[in-house]
Amino acid sequence: MIPEKQHSGSHLPTGVREKGMKFKKMFMRFRVNGEEVEVAAPPNRLLLDVLREDLSLTGTKLGCDDGSCGACTILVDGLPSQCCMMLAVSYQGREIQTVEALSRKGDLDPLQRAFCEQGGQQCGFCTPGILMTARALLLRNPDPSVEEISEALAGNLCRCTGYTKIIAAVHKAALDYQEARRKDPQRIAL
Ligand code: FES
Ligand code: FES
Repeated sequence: MIPEKQHSGSHLPTGVREKGMKFKKMFMRFRVNGEEVEVAAPPNRLLLDVLREDLSLTGTKLGCDDGSCGACTILVDGLPSQCCMMLAVSYQGREIQTVEALSRKGDLDPLQRAFCEQGGQQCGFCTPGILMTARALLLRNPDPSVEEISEALAGNLCRCTGYTKIIAAVHKAALDYQEARRKDPQRIAL
């Protein structure tokens, strides 16, 4: 299966995380979950570390740390991106969304609700990354087939669920979004 196209941006050069590499901090500005934020960080700081440690957005998880598990998936300009390998400095001014963007004023997003209803998570470690990949899929394809869901999620690994319930949850969320849009055609964001 071919994973959904990942965002192609600046990725971690070999050795950038090596101990002893010290760089002077600089100010960086980002747009995260609809808000402008500024952090002071060295140019070798990873976007994952900026999100989790500087901005306390700990929903995004660090799994493999080498771009192969999908646990750290966020959206950059609407495309799923694995931020464990992205230098934060290269993503200034981009539209970044983390899993924290999904619930509004304490209400779960239909994707989150569907995962709860369908048993799409067990330990939950992979779930934020899967939710964001699924969100990207539903943004570009509101009515995906089971095969299309499976293909889109091929880059997100889950050790617990066996994937069947995850796929069922994304399918259910797609139906719920369609219903929500039927009731409120002005609704532009998922
Ligand atoms: S932690 Fe980034 S892909 Fe695994
Ligand atoms: S629910 Fe545990 S890794 Fe996916």
